[in-house]
Amino acid sequence: MAKKALLVGITGASGSIYALRFLQRLVEMDQPVEVIFSEVGKRVFEYETGICVEEVSKLSRKTYEPSDFFSPPASGSSPYLGMVIIPCSMGTLSAIASGSSLNLIHRAADVMLKERKPLILVVRETPLNLIHLENMLKVARAGGIIYPAMPSFYAKPKNLDDLIDQFVERLVQFLFAQENPYSWERLLKEEE
Ligand SMILES: Cc1cc2nc3c(=O)[nH]c(=O)nc-3n(C[C@H](O)[C@H](O)[C@H](O)COP(=O)(O)O)c2cc1C
Repeated sequence: MAKKALLVGITGASGSIYALRFLQRLVEMDQPVEVIFSEVGKRVFEYETGICVEEVSKLSRKTYEPSDFFSPPASGSSPYLGMVIIPCSMGTLSAIASGSSLNLIHRAADVMLKERKPLILVVRETPLNLIHLENMLKVARAGGIIYPAMPSFYAKPKNLDDLIDQFVERLVQFLFAQENPYSWERLLKEEE
């Protein structure tokens, strides 16, 4: 059976490098991915990484425009494993929390929640205001996973690349760990 794709949303929060390394790691793992950039996400990604978004499509099975509501991510019948939004802006968090579905990233996230599939938001902002905190609580109560872009230091990263890779590896392990109730590996096994 062909592997199901993981949907990856990339928004205009700082931390585009996390998205790039995450996609590269999934390719290494032979995990198919489909990508949706938000309009601002495209610009911030190119500004922060110096890589044009067309290059990213080489890592992805398919890429979708954020306005393309006729595409598979907009539908609950599409067989995605789940979705990771990395990095996730406070604007996108807010749209998901309110269910407004203004672009394809919001709609796909809404679909994940209604279909009870894993949705992980790698949020990035500091400091957090009450609106951000309430939106995170709302999404967590609806079944989403708030996974802040917070690198750790106890593994003693030698440089920035190390720091980013350690964070990405931790996220990948979280996704695929057997003991994790949201693990896609586990969900796939249950489907067999
Ligand atoms: C260089 C840059 C960095 C930004 N960093 C953040 C951030 O870390 N977190 C955030 O919530 N918004 C950040 N923003 C603002 C968002 O891009 C903006 O709110 C945008 O409307 C988000 O839209 P989107 O969620 O559709 O991508 C940043 C904007 C720019 C230009």
